[in-house]
Amino acid sequence: MKRDFTRLLDITKKECDHLLKRAKRIKELRRKGKPYQPLKGKNLAMIFEKASTRTRISFEIGMQELGGHAVFLSPTETQIGRGEPIQDTARVLSRYVHGIMVRTFAQGIVDDLAQWATVPVINGLSDQLHPCQILADLFTIGEYKGDPRNVKVAYIGDGNNVANSWLEAAILLKAPFAIAAPKGYGPDRELVVMASKNPDFVLTDDPKEAVRDADVIYTDVWVSMGQEKEKTSRKKAFKGYKIDDRLLKAAHRDAIVMHCLPAYRGQEITDDVFERFSDVIFTQAENRLHVQKALLEWLLKGPATAPAE
Ligand code: CP
Ligand code: NVA
Repeated sequence: MKRDFTRLLDITKKECDHLLKRAKRIKELRRKGKPYQPLKGKNLAMIFEKASTRTRISFEIGMQELGGHAVFLSPTETQIGRGEPIQDTARVLSRYVHGIMVRTFAQGIVDDLAQWATVPVINGLSDQLHPCQILADLFTIGEYKGDPRNVKVAYIGDGNNVANSWLEAAILLKAPFAIAAPKGYGPDRELVVMASKNPDFVLTDDPKEAVRDADVIYTDVWVSMGQEKEKTSRKKAFKGYKIDDRLLKAAHRDAIVMHCLPAYRGQEITDDVFERFSDVIFTQAENRLHVQKALLEWLLKGPATAPAE
């Protein structure tokens, strides 16, 4: 049976470990300049209904490096934008390609694609979730801080797609996790209920409370794609949620700062803090490539690469 990656909770803890292990190996091979091409003859369709730099490039280059090919599809140049139903698009694409990656608005579009496609579907960001980002973040935390299960992440800012996928990661790995968001901008309620089963889960509107004892301070934009009209009210609501030196004083002395990018310096993070942690932040961006190659290998190569017992 085909597998999808529409959300982090689509995979088990063991599968997550497998992907992170494979990403490490794939990153090593690339650093040594050794070609690794298990996806020769395989094609990936990439549907982008929203802008992207990292997701688009890392999936396209990732497919190419694995020996396969990626096809970029924008709604304006395909029948998707003219209203062809998603269930038809899913079945048509499944006749041509071996996998579909989609960046879109409603999570329901990702879920419908997964339901109707006979090939694996990967969520490259929806309004609700951004699982590929958080998989890469877990890998990055492994490199800088060790096993993500024992690392406390504090997310400061909007309870958006990135925050929701972080909640899913904390649920999957039973890892300590805190989130500080202003009232009315919290994460998904169902995920909060699930995450609350872990005594190490904190939901607060006080950034200082969230970063206490945190090993990783994480933030994302205050205005996500599609929310441009709310820019003024959002900037006001998130005023006290900037990652600055004053906030970092409340965290572990050796805490690192992460950002999924793109960043708006002076809003969610100061220029100074951003530059001080730029090595972590750009490694985080680089790791999208390695982790997604592991994901593509697992989903597209077939059962031969299923995680070993
Ligand atoms: N972090 C991330 O997904 O970046 P893009 O929007 O550039 O793909
Ligand atoms: N929350 C942001 C993430 C961008 C990668 C957005 O959806 O625009």
